[in-house]
Amino acid sequence: MFSEWKPSIKRTHLSKDISLQLKNQTVVLNGWVKAIRDHGNLVFIDLWDESGITQINCDKNSKFGKLSQSLSYDCVLSVKGTIKARPKNMQNKKINTGEIEIIPEDITLLSKAKTAPFRSGDTVNENLALQYRYLDFRRRTDLKQNLKIRHKVLQIIREELSKENFCEIETPILYKSTPEGARDYLVPSRKQKGSFYALPQSPQTLKQLLILSGFEKYFQIAKCFRDEDLRSNRQPEFTQLDLEMSFIDEKEVINLTEKLIKKIWKEIKNEDISEFPHLSYQSALDRFGTDKPDLRNPLELKTLDSEIIKTANIKVLLSALNKNSCAKGFFVPHLSLSRKRSDDIQKTVKSMGSQGILWIEKTQTEWKSPIKKHISESLLQKLYEMLGGKGEGVCFISSGDDTLVNTLLSQLIFIFGKEENLIDTSKTKFVWITDFPYFHLDSETKKWTACHHPFTLPKKEDMSMLNEREVSPENLSKIRARAYDLVCNGHELAGGSLRVFEEVLQKKIFSILGLNSQEIEDQFGFFIEALSYGAPPHGGIAWGIERLIMLLTNTNHIRDVMAFPKTSSAVCLMSQAPSPINTENLLDLGLSIIKNK
Ligand code: AMO
Repeated sequence: MFSEWKPSIKRTHLSKDISLQLKNQTVVLNGWVKAIRDHGNLVFIDLWDESGITQINCDKNSKFGKLSQSLSYDCVLSVKGTIKARPKNMQNKKINTGEIEIIPEDITLLSKAKTAPFRSGDTVNENLALQYRYLDFRRRTDLKQNLKIRHKVLQIIREELSKENFCEIETPILYKSTPEGARDYLVPSRKQKGSFYALPQSPQTLKQLLILSGFEKYFQIAKCFRDEDLRSNRQPEFTQLDLEMSFIDEKEVINLTEKLIKKIWKEIKNEDISEFPHLSYQSALDRFGTDKPDLRNPLELKTLDSEIIKTANIKVLLSALNKNSCAKGFFVPHLSLSRKRSDDIQKTVKSMGSQGILWIEKTQTEWKSPIKKHISESLLQKLYEMLGGKGEGVCFISSGDDTLVNTLLSQLIFIFGKEENLIDTSKTKFVWITDFPYFHLDSETKKWTACHHPFTLPKKEDMSMLNEREVSPENLSKIRARAYDLVCNGHELAGGSLRVFEEVLQKKIFSILGLNSQEIEDQFGFFIEALSYGAPPHGGIAWGIERLIMLLTNTNHIRDVMAFPKTSSAVCLMSQAPSPINTENLLDLGLSIIKNK
């Protein structure tokens, strides 16, 4: 028997709309059974819809009382009935329907429900929750709330950018490789066997082509796809606010971004954002060991100079005198190191791939440090002060390869900032990171890569180095990009740049990145040709929408701001995608599968 869905049983009200003011009115509610409570002669059905819960009061001996015996949680009902006041002792002032109940005239069972794998209030394994994401939404109102905030933010963005004369344009998903530093997701073509589309890592070349077409201001809420290692703020498929403008420089992009951020934070959090400091990439690394610093954290890195390293003459510090090496550290005020805490720190440091970390502790009465025996107290004090030490506390020092030291210390200041409650999590702190190096030598492949992407314009002052026929590795590492990242509370929220708009320069950059003329032609010929038909100076930025919502909702997990996220191994547990395809489909595509040994 199938229930008939007819106009007479369609909802007239949502739970949120009914209260004592509507006493004695007849209403129709539609929703799910959230609970069935047996109270002797009465049975209460809690009916749930998106806006709240309403109590349906059934006499146990009535037909509704009997029906309620056959209902289970999550059944879908239409209930027609009259709104009545609950007896005073049964009222619940916490919810808007807490003073009323519905006396039913008609109940239609629209849909039965199996016992769900979990219910609200249960502690649920993350994988099970992802497998039944649609049920998880019923249980976790916070997730739903996050998606509603996401909806509101997208509305604000569309409205504000439209006011600024931006035009929203959609670009293709079946496209060609766009180099953003990750692997591409590839889609085989049935019509052109052996050929593949690449899903865009971002609409980078497409938005530039639109600007070349004469669109002055473009934006898009764009789906992007990157096959890369996933983290708590990375998904293989994510959304960007992507925008681009012609005849501008950094200032316009930065001003527009700040204006939009201020508007969003005000509307969503009622928070006034006024400061957007700028920090060069190098000073971010020097002071925080990362280009994504969390400025809410007061812990900062200090570098030991070579003179004090030589004077101290301690073996672990001397490695800082090698090329591309340093000795840096930080001070944690009022910290005292128990034996256990010290052991735990060394364990953490080793788990991050470092040999260990040196420390100097100053207590009310004495100095403590593994190097205390080897150097004078005045030198110990000098090292302590050079690392920012004042009063009691502990300084930590790491020495060796620049990158390793920075990676380790940036993580440690984050850990100590959190553990010592030094980070004011009620604050939002933005910072622009500028003056990025253009090229980066990949330590594994030994190939030069673009730190941002290869369409970025190099800094004017550094252009002369690019004019050399063979640019030396030393000069390559000195060239800086006209790129900017917006970082918020330690997350890279957005990144952009001004673009190359000359064919010759674009080719030169590709050749530095190791592409020969044929490869440049095959991969980017169409784009480079477009630059030759009159390209305006232009630039833009892209924001990570998920990261924006994470910041606005104070969650550390990108999954909490997406409808159907994937696991860290890029699997959709709900649909089991990706899944094998049958031989017929493979033949259609001209593909065969090489099985892993
Ligand atoms: P970029 O690669 O810096 O720049 O990306 C822009 C922003 O996108 C977000 N983001 C991600 N969010 C979730 N999961 C991911 N895997 C992921 N990867 C990136 C980040 C990041 O700041 N085309 C250029 C922009 C430009 O130059 O205009 C680009 O995509 O928040």
